[in-house]
Parts: sequence; C-alpha cells; structure tokens
Amino acid sequence: MKLWGGNYDAAPDAVFWEFNRSFAFDRRLVREEIAASRAWVRALGRCGALRAAEAETLERGLDEVLAGVDADPSQLDVDLEDVHSFVEERLGRIVGDLAGQAHLGRSRNEQAVTALRLWARGTIDHLREGVASLARTLVERGREGADAVMPGYTHTRAAEPITFGHWAGAHAWGLVRDHERLGDARVRVDVLPLGSGALAGVSLPLDREAMARDLRFAAVSESALDAVMDRDFAVELVSCCAQLQTHLARLAEDLIHFAGPEYGFVTLPEAFTTGSSLMPQKKNPDALELVRGKAARVDGDLVRLLALLKGLPSGYQKDLQEDKEAVFDATDTALGSVAVMTGVVAGLGLNRDAMRAAAGREEMMAAGLAVALACEGIPFRKAHHVVGTLVADAQKSGRSLKAVAAEKLPSVSPAAAARLDALFDPLQAVKAKAVRGGAAPDAVRASLDAVLARLAG
Ligand code: ARG
Repeated sequence: MKLWGGNYDAAPDAVFWEFNRSFAFDRRLVREEIAASRAWVRALGRCGALRAAEAETLERGLDEVLAGVDADPSQLDVDLEDVHSFVEERLGRIVGDLAGQAHLGRSRNEQAVTALRLWARGTIDHLREGVASLARTLVERGREGADAVMPGYTHTRAAEPITFGHWAGAHAWGLVRDHERLGDARVRVDVLPLGSGALAGVSLPLDREAMARDLRFAAVSESALDAVMDRDFAVELVSCCAQLQTHLARLAEDLIHFAGPEYGFVTLPEAFTTGSSLMPQKKNPDALELVRGKAARVDGDLVRLLALLKGLPSGYQKDLQEDKEAVFDATDTALGSVAVMTGVVAGLGLNRDAMRAAAGREEMMAAGLAVALACEGIPFRKAHHVVGTLVADAQKSGRSLKAVAAEKLPSVSPAAAARLDALFDPLQAVKAKAVRGGAAPDAVRASLDAVLARLAG
C-alpha cells in the first residue's frame, strides 16, 4: 500500500523503491506512530471533521493495530514504504475504507517528526535512569574507598596522592552533568509538531493543545514551517550521547590501566572480560575497550546529523529521513555502554594494598613538602626550587627523597623537617586536602553525598 500515486502512471522503479523505503529502520517508531495517530483522530472527532462514532472506531482500530504488532511482531516484515504507511495499512484491514480518514489533513512530514520526538523523549528517560544508576554505583564504590589512598595522575605521571573515592567521585560528577544535560534536552524534545501539516498548518479547527495533552507533550510548536524541519532536538540528544560516551571512554581508559598488572589497583569482574584464543593467561578488558571504541561511533553519528542538516533549505526534504538511524545508533550505543560500565564498576575488586604501595612513592609528596616550607615562611617559588634540588639529589644519588630531605631540610626549615614523617605519609597528605572538593576522606564523602543530591534534584 502506497500513501500516494493518483497522479502516477507507472509503479516506482524496483531499485529506487528499496532505496526510498525507511521501514527497515523507522519500524522502531511503530508505537509512537500509533499513539500520535490516535491523538490525531481524537482531535478530528473533537473538531467535528469526523463524526464521534468514526473517531471512536478509528481509535479502537489503532488499539487493535498495536495489539496485533505486540502479539505478532512478524507483521512488521512487509514491503511497505515506512511506518506511517504500515499503520494506515493495518488500520485499513481492521476498519476498512474509514482508515483513509485517519490521514485527513495530516502530512507525513509532521508525522515523522512527531513520532521521532515521542521516541526521543522515552529514550531520554531511559538514558537518564541509566546514567543516574551508574553515577550512584560510583558513589557507592567511592564511599567504600573514601580513605583508600592511591596515586593521582597528571600527564599519566603519578602526581599527588588521592583516594579511590576521590577518583570515583570525579567520574560521577561528569555523569551528573550528563544527567542534567539530557534533562535540558528533554525540554526541547517535549514539543508537539502535529497540526503543522506539510509546512503551513492545517485548515481544520484542530485543538492542538488537546492533542499535546493526549500525548503528554509539555508544549506546542509555534511555527508549522519550523516544526517540520526542526531537528535541533535530535542534534542535541546525539550531542548529549557523544559527551556522555566521552565520559564513559575516560572511565574505561582509567580502568583498563588500573586493572592491568602494572598498576593492579582494581580487579575487573570476570564476567566483563574475555580470554585470548592463543594466550591462556589472558583476561582482557574487552568491555572497557569497546566502550572506549564506541565513543568514535557516537561522535560519527553527531557529525552525520550535523552534516545532513547543513545546507538544507527550509521546509521538509527527504534528506531528513536520514536523521533517524543516527539517533537510534547513538542512543543504543550510549544505553548499552552505560549498562556495561555499571556492571563493571559494581563488580570491581579494590586492591587497597597495591594502591597504597603506589601512593607511597615519595616524589608524589614533593608538592606537599614545598607548601609546608612556604607555610613556614619560605616564599613558595623558593620552596619549590629547594624541593626540586632535593628531588634531583635523590635521583642522582639513588637515595630516597625522604632521606635526602631529612639530611638537608633542618638547615632550611627546622619546623618542616620535624614534620617529615607526616609529610611523607600518603594518608596524612590526603587528609590535608580538606578543602571543599579536595581529596581528604571527609571532603570526598561530602562530595559523594552532593552527587546524590544533584541526581535527586
Ligand atoms: N519516511 C519519511 C521520513 O522518515 C516520512 C516523511 C515522508 N514525507 C514525504 N513528503 N516524502 O522522513
């Protein structure tokens, strides 16, 4: 069944017919298309364009279409142009010629974008749930490790001691922003385009607000021409996914290293690793590598959408049919990645001894030592230089930094020299970072609480 053709002599070219069809992918919108069609026929009934009994028959018919698809999804395996044709065709089998009235005054231009908005809204809700649950898992694990000292890194070089909780909380904060960003995007998704017609609106006295209420849209679009061509909401959603996936890739990248034998800070849950076909000793971090790799894919989806939209004139163009797969792919990938990362983080084993041993590396105390000297009245730049010479001395002589400091510092600052044991204790060093947002265990616990508060608000 085609939704057009009265002015045609010949059937479409077979190759072009396949090329033109979107049903292979827009079948995913079947529930949303049915819901939107239901709201449309109700609105036609309300404004008198259909008799009440006709509108009711159509509504019940649409419910049956949905029930039919639910009962037998293979109904979708048919050679139709798109999801809109499909729903009308199934409706025709149930209510006969009256099905044609479901399309009264309606354009597929508005249908396509209405169904996509409904779908995007539901998917954003799923994504936000997933992101929140990963963030909560990081908070839980972070609380467990709020006083587990480990090295913190800059430039992939050990920098200063932190705690596992500080590290986990940092990743949770990125997810808090993703959660909020998706919430912001949802506001602009949650707008009803129906009633826009092909571009100019509709010549029936439709109550668009009532349609919006039926579909639980928070707002109604204010320009028919804008409504049929607007895909910012799709760009925004895919952009949110790209940012989220970048956060997940960074988390994955950290864990790939932290779980490796050179670090050994954590153990990955076996269920999220795979073995090697050759090397029997291997348990590879494939889950994490895939999450990192799939960030490229979501970035590609974003570029694909932006490139699609760039250079289009105003109004609906068939190019816009290409929007859906980018949205589906980006959101599927992000949802899958979030679920995998939640499993990995929940199942991590924490190797506190390995973390502590690595956090005890004395060079990492150099900055703390310089600050301690400065607090004793030595200008910080000079203190920085003095500690630099101690580090160089230790490296050249092969002695420990603490031993060198014990020898050289008393003449520079007896007070600082007397505190060397505390200054070289990684847990003491961490506890000193008690500022809001700092790595001190109490500050970390407060920060983790704040993650939960932000997710709830
Ligand atoms: N399958 C189309 C899409 O996804 C539906 C809209 C077709 N409209 C048209 N005028 N050809 O965009």
